Amino acid sequence: MSGIKTFIRWENHLPDRHIFPIDETLEVARPGAGVPTVVHLHGGVSEPHSDGNARAWFTRRFRDRGETWKKATYVYHNAGATSSLWYHDHALGYTRLNLLAGLLGAYKVLNPRLESRFRLPKGKYDRQLVVMDRSFTESGAIYINSTGDNPGLHPEWQPEYFGKMIVVNGKAWPYMKVERRKYRFRIINASNARFFRFALDDGSSFSQIGSDSFYLEAPIHLKSGLLAPSEIMDIVIDFSKSKKKTVILTNDAPYPFPDGDSPGLADSKVLKFIVGDGNVTDRAHIPAKLETVKKLSEKHVAASRNVVLFEFDSVSGNPVRLLINFANFSAPVTELPKHGTTELWNIVNLTPDNHPFHIHLAAFQVLRQQKLKDVDELSACVVMYRGIGSCNLTSHADGDPVPPPLHEAGWKNVFKMQPFYATSILVHFAMVNSEPFPFDPTGKPGYAYHCHILDHEDNMMMRPYKLVD
Ligand code: C2O
Ligand code: CU
Repeated sequence: MSGIKTFIRWENHLPDRHIFPIDETLEVARPGAGVPTVVHLHGGVSEPHSDGNARAWFTRRFRDRGETWKKATYVYHNAGATSSLWYHDHALGYTRLNLLAGLLGAYKVLNPRLESRFRLPKGKYDRQLVVMDRSFTESGAIYINSTGDNPGLHPEWQPEYFGKMIVVNGKAWPYMKVERRKYRFRIINASNARFFRFALDDGSSFSQIGSDSFYLEAPIHLKSGLLAPSEIMDIVIDFSKSKKKTVILTNDAPYPFPDGDSPGLADSKVLKFIVGDGNVTDRAHIPAKLETVKKLSEKHVAASRNVVLFEFDSVSGNPVRLLINFANFSAPVTELPKHGTTELWNIVNLTPDNHPFHIHLAAFQVLRQQKLKDVDELSACVVMYRGIGSCNLTSHADGDPVPPPLHEAGWKNVFKMQPFYATSILVHFAMVNSEPFPFDPTGKPGYAYHCHILDHEDNMMMRPYKLVD
């Protein structure tokens, strides 16, 4: 419930050995034995020691602990985010494997003060859909190719995990019986690397009411919605108008996104809705106006920063390492925003992939995306200087500014960084209503920002940041 704290003691009852091979060539948690894990509440506004720092991992019965581990019981303030969240493992170098193995779940904050005005579908008509791709062995175990693409460098790590089947709430290609009425679906993309472009096969539209953990200002009516790993799409589907008995939620996003080969047929299906006969009374209603989103202004920023996404490739053209500002998670903290301020971050993507960029604690608003020109020259410059400082970003990012789509124009905690674009976002280091955080956000172990393609995050598109007073 919004404003009411939840205390959770996260326990680890995992076995001595991981079910998947660990890649020791990465920067990775090194327990004596056991499977390290630590939980991050994604979208949560949490004090540093409850945020799931990648080095605050612990093994079974807290026997081995990472160097930033402080306590077993976390506190979640249930403040800031207005609707849908999820939680998942965040252990250093293990995140992609631990999520693949299933260490994740959905979470929502109820907001009676706001929601009592809305009359949105509630109770069993308000469903969380955790969508991901997985491959299985013949006996039904989760399958991962255990040899890396560049085994000489990384024996196990692969740049992206893609599964052959789509799994929703733990079931492969499931169905769901629905009544002829409105349903609210909070769809969470829990894949390691797969993007989804969702649509309904009868061509009908749906209404998006929230993005990531926040309500939109007003519902947006869409025929399809693109969701990167870790993004959340909060939508209402009205089945009362369905002409068919079954409606299929489909996906046609290529993988890797955006330039991979088109998906095979099997991938296009996600979930089948079987629509009941007979009319039902539906008192749910999609309000014309949801929440007031206070627009942040570029004029009032306390600092501007450039953040470069870069990958090093092998001779065969496979990425072997992906970095933010040429630094890994162990390199000293360079981002020290002042608590309570707003900063302008220009994220410059010099890779051919779209990276879902996620910041812990702080919500942000997207200002614009601009295509980069002379990318080779810019890349050569950032490699030479190990950063973008001396490379005159403004002369390279002079494409027409593209605003974010309407359904992503409010608060976000993840945004899709298009390849060869500079994306400017306003990051708010306070609550979305601009009140200060309900705890001391400064100090150790700080927070993180990273790419949410889990295979990238583990190798090593993740950086720490710390708030200061
Ligand atoms: Cu879902 Cu560090 O994030
Ligand atoms: Cu990435």
